[in-house]
Amino acid sequence: MSAIVSVEDLVVGYGDTTAVERVSFTVAAGEHVTLLGPSGCGKTTTLRAVAGLERPHDGRIVIDGVPVYDRGAGINIAPEKRGLSMVFQSYAIWPHMSVADNVAFPLRVRGVPRKLARTAVERALALVDLADFADRPATRLSGGQQQRVALARAIAFETKVVLLDEPLSNLDAQLRLQMRGELADLRRRIGFTAIYVTHDQEEAFSLSDRIMVMRSGRIEQQGTPAEIHAAPRTRFIAAFLGVRNIFAADIAGASSDTVVEARLADGTVLRARDPWGDGRGGHAAVAFRPGAVHLEAVAASGRAGNIGTVTRSLLVGDMAQIFICSGPLEICALARPRSDFAKGSSVAWRVDPDDCLVLRE
Ligand SMILES: Nc1ncnc2c1ncn2[C@@H]1O[C@H](COP(=O)(O)OP(=O)(O)OP(=O)(O)O)[C@@H](O)[C@H]1O
Ligand SMILES: [Mg+2]
Repeated sequence: MSAIVSVEDLVVGYGDTTAVERVSFTVAAGEHVTLLGPSGCGKTTTLRAVAGLERPHDGRIVIDGVPVYDRGAGINIAPEKRGLSMVFQSYAIWPHMSVADNVAFPLRVRGVPRKLARTAVERALALVDLADFADRPATRLSGGQQQRVALARAIAFETKVVLLDEPLSNLDAQLRLQMRGELADLRRRIGFTAIYVTHDQEEAFSLSDRIMVMRSGRIEQQGTPAEIHAAPRTRFIAAFLGVRNIFAADIAGASSDTVVEARLADGTVLRARDPWGDGRGGHAAVAFRPGAVHLEAVAASGRAGNIGTVTRSLLVGDMAQIFICSGPLEICALARPRSDFAKGSSVAWRVDPDDCLVLRE
């Protein structure tokens, strides 16, 4: 697939602070790519630079084969000539205009003839299921409907790429979930290319073909949602994704095997996958999810596994989160509640090497 957007070595700053530091990525036609990361990591700045709303310090941006920014060549094309549309973090509905006028606004700015514009607006409003609301003042709509007006405005003209900056962040939880489904559905129907920004990993994982995880102005890892879920590369990413058990570990000697031995602070040795290690030993971290911990009462285990003591247990739906103390470590496991796992019990725990991952910096 050929790239419709290509960003090379992008650097963007505000005064002395560098917000985006040598970011490079490509987006294929029809692809939904998400920039995911915590507040302040540079997601909005990256998106605004692609849109032409921030002037980068360095790098190159190509959209559909046309360089729209190139520091070396002195190119910086105006935002409205880049063939993009954008849905902002705050969805910016114009309160003094009707729904239809809001959607028509970018078309008017671009000098699209009135009749053509009207057809495009009707089509866009029908797509987001707001055809009956065209003449209503835009402020007399629910949050979700206003959100759909913003989407309709972004797709009303034939745009190559839609840039969406936290488009669902102003909605309450239930509406956010509904709009997420509608957004996915809309993309399936009209197949636009999307660059999407969010700090919400569920949103990123459910909507994206590819995710780029950002940290402090850089892309720390990129991959499909399945790839990133299966193998976050660094401790930062695993923690950001909410992986509960992350411990410092010493990785035993160099080996060409991707399964290595990791020694934790309490002396426990776990066998773990090391996809990013290139056979290196040394100091790293291991991560495993609570659901991956096999738990048995010590008596039943024949002492196979690592022995620890249950410090507390919390019911989560019909499962229990069981916290096990082993030396200085506290391991979180997920299991069916059983009296064997009550506070104070001795338990044996283990993790399959496939479910235990070495994290690298
Ligand atoms: N107009 C500005 N002037 C100065 N610094 C800014 C400006 N906008 C952003 N920054 C700084 O640039 C960095 C990146 O900001 P950015 O808005 O891109 O983050 P973000 O990832 O979109 O965060 P959020 O999830 O909170 O929206 C931050 O350190 C921020 O404080
Ligand atoms: Mg932002």
